[in-house]
Amino acid sequence: MKLRTIENLDLRGKFVLLRDDFNVQIVDGNITDSFRIEQSMPTINALKSSGARIAICAHLGRPKGTRNMDFSLAPVAEYMKIPLISDCLDKTFMANMKDGDVVLLENVRFYPGEESNDPDFAKKLSDGFDIFVNDAFAVSHRAHASTVGVAEILPSYAGKLLASEIEHLSAVMENPKRPLLSIVAGSKVSTKIGVLKALARLSDKLIIGGALGTTFNYAMGGKVGNSLYEADQKDTALEILEYAKKNNCEVLLPLDKGVAKEFTPTATRTNKDFTEIEDDDVIIDAGEMTTKRDTDAIKEAATVIWNGTVGMAEWQPTWSYGSFAIARTIAEQTRAGKLESIVGGGDTVAALTACGVKDDITYVSTGGGAFLEFIEGRTLPGIAILEDK
Ligand code: 3PG
Repeated sequence: MKLRTIENLDLRGKFVLLRDDFNVQIVDGNITDSFRIEQSMPTINALKSSGARIAICAHLGRPKGTRNMDFSLAPVAEYMKIPLISDCLDKTFMANMKDGDVVLLENVRFYPGEESNDPDFAKKLSDGFDIFVNDAFAVSHRAHASTVGVAEILPSYAGKLLASEIEHLSAVMENPKRPLLSIVAGSKVSTKIGVLKALARLSDKLIIGGALGTTFNYAMGGKVGNSLYEADQKDTALEILEYAKKNNCEVLLPLDKGVAKEFTPTATRTNKDFTEIEDDDVIIDAGEMTTKRDTDAIKEAATVIWNGTVGMAEWQPTWSYGSFAIARTIAEQTRAGKLESIVGGGDTVAALTACGVKDDITYVSTGGGAFLEFIEGRTLPGIAILEDK
């Protein structure tokens, strides 16, 4: 896919509406992971040095079209040391802007017209701007006013991050080094059917872990105790296994699990295989045998695509065991030049960060849902509209 990009544009003195994804985790007013902001900086800096006057449009959380200050972007503006414009439709700031200035517009989801892609709202948002640049890959799967609506009104271009995401993800989808191993975990089969099928078509091996893996184990007749799983997805799980078989993809399901009697970070851990699991056991992490089998599979792969932690990786150190072993093995193999690794999804990237190995990965995507939809081969509306036809 060829996109219209910002290279070679004459932007001096031009008002640029830049869409970024600053949907970051904020705890007590502090940003706990600035990855998405850092990845947005190359485009912001390029626009600045070309003399553009930049207003960044972004969202935080899901305030459902109301001005709820719990979802204010103020901590992001403070972190970036740029002014926050308290209403994304207020254009009075433009009169005082100089070439290279940058401001952040308050949460665009404070207006219901954003998510409904209301043309009138998109018109008001785009008023006064000369061009639109979308660098928010992570929200490009949403057909909202700030991803699609404004792009229908203003001359629109892809930013550097968005272009780089497409380039890296397309390369691995179109021409992966083999054997290709995909690792998919998370909670719900129902939200991952498309991506599981797409990866079953593409991959030589597919590890299914986390609560997702538990549903597959249940479908295969395994004991799952009091764990999180989806009983109603049994047939879907079996269908996906059949689909993988037809596509010559070997599926690796959990063999054993780290379990406890309560679902808490401090619960006592026991390792059990599926025949040993009792009715009051809760599965919280991958087991030792599963982790050994999974890390061995990573060592045999030439490409790994990873989305989803295989346990409660944020409950360290007891329940991060399986996810951290995967993160460290992928990083070691990539560092040694034996593996190309692509990782996406908020929790998964957080696990890499917690292990201190994020910089070792070949490509870390800023996308969560967008990453999955792209891999699934779906058309992302915010990207399709930037296509250079
Ligand atoms: C994300 O965090 O994945 C994106 O910002 C999209 O957020 P949404 O799922 O609330 O649309």
